[in-house]
Order: sequence, then C-alpha cells, then structure tokens
Amino acid sequence: MPGRNSPIGVFDSGLGGLTVLRALRELMPSENLIYYGDTAHVPYGSKSAQTVTRYSLDIASFLASKHAKLLVVACNTASSLALPALRRAVKIPVLGVISPGAQAAAGCTRNRRVGIIGTEATIKSGKYRDEIKKNDPRIRVYGLPCPLFVPLVEEGWWENEIASLTAKNYLSPLRNSGIDTLILGCTHYPVLKPLIQRAMGPKVRLVDSASAMAEQVREKLGETGMQRTGGKGKTVFYASDDPNRFRRMAKNLLGTSPAAVLLKKFD
Ligand code: DGL
Repeated sequence: MPGRNSPIGVFDSGLGGLTVLRALRELMPSENLIYYGDTAHVPYGSKSAQTVTRYSLDIASFLASKHAKLLVVACNTASSLALPALRRAVKIPVLGVISPGAQAAAGCTRNRRVGIIGTEATIKSGKYRDEIKKNDPRIRVYGLPCPLFVPLVEEGWWENEIASLTAKNYLSPLRNSGIDTLILGCTHYPVLKPLIQRAMGPKVRLVDSASAMAEQVREKLGETGMQRTGGKGKTVFYASDDPNRFRRMAKNLLGTSPAAVLLKKFD
C-alpha cells in the first residue's frame, strides 16, 4: 500500500514531461518522484489512440508496482487519449494535464477566444475544447497542431532561425484569430515560450499546464492526507531506450543532469 513517503509517479512519451517534473519539484520539494520517459516510443503525437493507450497502461502498472501514491500523466497526448483507461486500470488517483490547463486558460481569457497548440492527436481528440467549454461554454476555441516543435526541442533548437520561422509559419492563423490566450498543450512547448510569445505578440497570454498541474497534485495529496513533509525528496528516472542520451538531454530541461537513469522496457 502506498503511504506518504511513497513517490509520485510521472510519465511522458519522452523528455518533455520534465517540464512538469520541474514544476512538481519546485512546488513540493519534499516529495519523492519517479519519472518514466518512454523514449523508445516517442513521439506519441502521431500514433493512434489504441497504441498510446497500450503504452500508457504498461507504464502506469509499472509505476503502480513501484508503490506510486498518485499518477501524473505529464504527456498531453496520453492525457487526451488514455485517461479513462488508466483510471480503470490502477487503484491510485490519476491526474492528466488537460483539465488544469483548460481551467487556467478559461480563467485567463477576457475576450473568450482561446487557442490551443499541441500534437496532431491532442488537437484531433478535442479534449481541450471539451474541458474549456465545461468551464465556460461561451469561449471560442481554436486548435492548431504544431508537430515540428517537438523535434526542434529534442534537438536543442530553441532559439535559432529555423525554430523562429517554424513558429511564425505555424502560428500565423492563430495570430489572425483574435485570441487573447494560448494554451501550450504539449510538454515540449514551454521551452519555446519566448519564441512563441514573439510570434504571437505581447498581448496574448501563454498558459502552460505544468504549474497548474502541480497545484492540482498538491491539492489532491492534501485532500487524501498523503503529502510528504520533511527533508528534500528524491527523484528516480527511468527511460525505455538509451538512458545515457536521456541523461544528457535532460540537462537542457532540468538545469542539471540526473545522477542516474535506469533502463526499463516492456515486451
Ligand atoms: N509528450 C507529448 C505531448 O505532450 C509530445 C511529444 C510526443 O508527440 O510524444 O503531447
């Protein structure tokens, strides 16, 4: 049975979910964490719901077997496609990034026009739209897939000319739509915030789910009496492919390299 000292399980299709891990660490430094990056299967964003659900279920049962007390689905694509199946499969609370991001955006917009950028699968699923409409049905929602942002971030191209042109090209329809709020609906996009802000102009507020998600996790742990108090928590990292590459690349997103990354594959 998980207890207060048990870790929070966090997973993503790869490295991008480290933006969520970072927000969790900043808000709750005492918590122990396990992070699983499915680097063997990234990207999820161009795969079918069935495949993404299968990968997510394997990871969730692995994290539950490590006595995780709560599961954070840091990946927007997995949160869009696999949340109900995950909730049925494990006995611990499962939180996805869509609802906190949608809630934050609905609270932010003044003109009731909200844009969402994400992977093809996330946008196609319509889950952000549904969640935003639950908060306020009068909000007009504009979804736009930006698949090339993921490889740009993975490559470390956050600020060069190619990244800047890609952002301008992708975002021009949204620029003309009159939105005042834009959800960064993909784990990788917070890294491109300065570039996206420049492409959208200073009047558009960018909302990323990571900090809203961390707040929800804290609330949930408080409600269930599962918050850990005391010294600094530890983080254990797993990847499904090439842990050394994960370690090297993680430095870009976390500021420091993880001391160790363990390999865990599923057959
Ligand atoms: N982690 C994914 C997401 O947030 C982006 C990368 C992928 O396509 O797997 O949607």
